Amino acid sequence: MSSIGTVRVDLAGRGYDIAIGPGLIDRAGELSAKLLARPRVIIVSDDIVAERYGARLFNSFKKAGIEASILFVPAGERSKEFDTFGQLMNALLDQRPDRKTTLVALGGGVVGDLVGFAASVLLRGVDFIQVPTTLLAQVDSSVGGKTAINTRHGKNLVGTFYQPRLVLADTDVLDTLPRRELLAGYAEVVKYGLIDDPAFFDWCEKNAADLLAGDAAKRTYAIEQSCRAKARIVAADERETTDLRALLNLGHTFGHALEAETGLGPDLLHGEAVGTGMAMAFDLSARLGLCPAADASRVRAHLGAVGLPVRLRSIGGDNRRQWNAAKLIEHMRGDKKAQAGHLTFILARGIGKAFVTREVDEAALRGLLDQAIAA
Ligand SMILES: NC(=O)c1ccc[n+]([C@@H]2O[C@H](COP(=O)([O-])OP(=O)(O)OC[C@H]3O[C@@H](n4cnc5c(N)ncnc54)[C@H](O)[C@@H]3O)[C@@H](O)[C@H]2O)c1
Ligand SMILES: [Zn+2]
Repeated sequence: MSSIGTVRVDLAGRGYDIAIGPGLIDRAGELSAKLLARPRVIIVSDDIVAERYGARLFNSFKKAGIEASILFVPAGERSKEFDTFGQLMNALLDQRPDRKTTLVALGGGVVGDLVGFAASVLLRGVDFIQVPTTLLAQVDSSVGGKTAINTRHGKNLVGTFYQPRLVLADTDVLDTLPRRELLAGYAEVVKYGLIDDPAFFDWCEKNAADLLAGDAAKRTYAIEQSCRAKARIVAADERETTDLRALLNLGHTFGHALEAETGLGPDLLHGEAVGTGMAMAFDLSARLGLCPAADASRVRAHLGAVGLPVRLRSIGGDNRRQWNAAKLIEHMRGDKKAQAGHLTFILARGIGKAFVTREVDEAALRGLLDQAIAA
């Protein structure tokens, strides 16, 4: 058996394991059997992922003597809207679940967020298992228990904190993930090094090419390190009541503003926005004299070297944007993380030395944005 990594998320009474490695989809039944209140699961997936992996996951449950059925939603962020959510709830209830039925989310962050939310309210709460299939979902969204759907007021404004019983991150499925999605997820991997683990950032610089090319052992290691970092922060601050969990938003104040400006569409994926946003956060830290300029250059160089967009002018494909600093700041003020008008930034004193601040001078921010727009 090839090596499977395990990370434990320690939460009193609700702790769970994240298993990471190749071949896990085919072992899902065996690995989850003892956790199920009753041998009955309903798998929910998106149509793209279901076509590739639905039957294998279904068969793995069957093989373990677990009754299984499978439902689909269309692939894409729009499946996190109320309409899809309502249809999914009715489709789930059509399956006559009881409180001991377990839901299984097979897909990226969209399916994970949607199904996690559904599990938290179906019959006032049923268990669920995450089988994340994008790198972003494996290192970020499937861990930590945030669930959400979108409204016309913005993304992720309706949701719950609801932890899965198990996460199975099968590294093989990343082989079919489009390169752009893989890179977007990789930005969130780098994030963990930049927050508080400079040795992991060094590792990323040396091993990114192999990892992105499909090296299974390196993928497992990077996902394990990422999950361990997120699990540690989540265990200490499950509901984001202190600034600790906010560190996970490194690059996100800028990133969310860029996403808002590009319309949350295919022009800029979330992880791409976070990559650009992290480069900007380090540049702002350097501009404020908090962080050595050499560290900010190193961050930008690594993200650029793997192929993430680090310059605003490279974003948007054919329909290049006219970026506007005032508009970007307006988006930042609209972000749900902004508290009483104070923008929250995650800045850094160097690689692996991130901290939270609400004291960023607006003129400096303006200067940084103008420079990024001109670059
Ligand atoms: N809950 C959290 O803590 C958290 C954290 C970060 C992001 N999110 C949410 O995650 C969502 C984004 O997730 P995502 O980036 O995984 O996007 P996604 O779920 O939309 O997946 C991206 C695309 O890849 C396809 N795909 C997935 N796995 C595949 C595979 N193995 N092979 C081929 N194609 C595959 C999907 O069908 C989809 O078209 C957003 O809605 C975001 O709000 C949540
Ligand atoms: Zn993110």
